[in-house]
Amino acid sequence: MNIAIDGPAGAGKSTIARLAAQRLNFLYVDTGAMYRAIALYLLDAKTDIEDEKKLKNALDHIRINIAYEKDVQHVFLNLQDVSAEIRSEKVGNMASKTAALPLVREKLLDLQRDIAAKNDVLMDGRDIGTNILPDAELKIYLTASSEVRAKRRYDELKQMGGRPKLDVIKEDIEKRDYQDMHREIAPLKQAEDAVLIDSSDMTIEEVVTRILELAKERM
Ligand code: CDP
Repeated sequence: MNIAIDGPAGAGKSTIARLAAQRLNFLYVDTGAMYRAIALYLLDAKTDIEDEKKLKNALDHIRINIAYEKDVQHVFLNLQDVSAEIRSEKVGNMASKTAALPLVREKLLDLQRDIAAKNDVLMDGRDIGTNILPDAELKIYLTASSEVRAKRRYDELKQMGGRPKLDVIKEDIEKRDYQDMHREIAPLKQAEDAVLIDSSDMTIEEVVTRILELAKERM
């Protein structure tokens, strides 16, 4: 069985998807981490992403793998575990930019479909229900207001020891939403057959419970 969860940055997808997957005994696949790993490479290599030839050449040098340690997904960029490094805002913003490039999406499409074909997965991203897994048994579109999402991201970064600024984060989130929703290829949008969950006024536990109910109905 495949469950797709899509939605904008900071809607709580990863926390919620991880918990729901644990309880269903599904594999949690965070596709954003794959885009982030590619972004990290392109940043470090200072690739001129506007130049298709250079981009293609860079992508040919990238191998993305994922592995699980105690149910936690680790992302490997050319065999190096970059799971922590990819979490910075800088990498997130670059990921949003580079995820709009057809060559980048093409590179990850097969990897994502292949994992879903071999496992019961709960996969989160932007185009999972609309593009990667159009036949998923359950599709969720998880969102929340940009204020709530900015506050959540702020708390998260603070907990990790950073010194975030709330207004900057909100601006980043809105910019990223715009980029994700208005790109030509695989834009973020709710699939027609997706269930909408607005988590602005819901606790994590409430959202997880709702997803488990929906999943059990469709098993
Ligand atoms: O953690 P956050 O929700 O901010 O982002 P993420 O899920 O880690 O993804 C980082 C960026 O990758 C997003 O801003 C999207 O532009 C892009 N992405 C995508 O285009 N398609 C996906 N399936 C997953 C992520």
